[in-house]
Amino acid sequence: MNLSLQDQVAVIIGAASGIGRAIAEAFAAEGASVGLIDRSPEVEAVAREISEKHAVACRGEIADVASENSVNQAATSLQATQGNTSHVVFTAGIGSGKFGFPFTRLDPEDWRRVLDVNVMGAVHVAHAFAPQLIASAENAPELGATMLFLVSVAGQIGSQTDPPYSAAKAAQINFAQCLARDLAPHGVRVNSLSPGMVRTPLNESVWAASQATLPESERCDYPTWAEEKIRRVSPLGRWQEPAEFGSAAVFLASPLARNITGQTLNIDGGQVMHS
Ligand SMILES: NC(=O)c1ccc[n+]([C@@H]2O[C@H](COP(=O)([O-])OP(=O)(O)OC[C@H]3O[C@@H](n4cnc5c(N)ncnc54)[C@H](O)[C@@H]3O)[C@@H](O)[C@H]2O)c1
Repeated sequence: MNLSLQDQVAVIIGAASGIGRAIAEAFAAEGASVGLIDRSPEVEAVAREISEKHAVACRGEIADVASENSVNQAATSLQATQGNTSHVVFTAGIGSGKFGFPFTRLDPEDWRRVLDVNVMGAVHVAHAFAPQLIASAENAPELGATMLFLVSVAGQIGSQTDPPYSAAKAAQINFAQCLARDLAPHGVRVNSLSPGMVRTPLNESVWAASQATLPESERCDYPTWAEEKIRRVSPLGRWQEPAEFGSAAVFLASPLARNITGQTLNIDGGQVMHS
């Protein structure tokens, strides 16, 4: 199937690991030029690997999304080398690193960095890239341009895990809907992908935080914890794989999805079902 992404520019923020890296691979496999942004210096090696594997231009930029300046510098640098971006995916994310139930286990100060990265990061990215997306869509109206946020099932239910993380994800879902309305007249579509359980460092950090609250006798290893949780919360009863988010991301970026905007697509084995 031709997704018409060849030679378009996609920028993935949070691309040094996990889901973001898989999404970057999926755009590269479709022949897009890819810009990667991450706080981790690992992003440069990932960019080289993707470039060699898929024979596309791929460049890594180190930036902290919590800093508006840092995001603006990365966006300007990528634009100078790759031209205007047509697709932006915001996947950078962190939790508080603590188990937050009851919420009084956390101090108000535990919220600040989570909101700075997950919420203000999304805001910085939207401000930095919206002008490029609008220009791309105006230049090729038949292809349009897109923005995609990686959110979470935790932003749609009162997940008993990490309240600042859940609240930040709910904010992202709502901000994506605001952006979808704002940018629709310019031909820019904005959607969210919502994972349930994906085996990544972030997912493992949730297990580590939960274990720290338990007596030694009740602790278990990561695979055992994950297996029990998936059995309890997911009707389909299996992990979600990073590549599944890559497939969905390139579909949503393509003209095949030209009528899809303002939506949150749960890829969660059926964990969240809205009636
Ligand atoms: N893994 C899951 O089970 C799961 C479930 C629901 C939602 N999500 C969401 O999916 C997205 C991707 O998560 P993942 O599981 O691949 O995690 P991950 O930890 O593997 O990747 C997150 C990436 O974000 C980067 N990052 C973190 N803070 C940053 C900052 N301040 N500036 C720039 N980059 C920063 C990290 O360096 C890392 O490369 C996140 O938004 C996460 O909330 C994941």
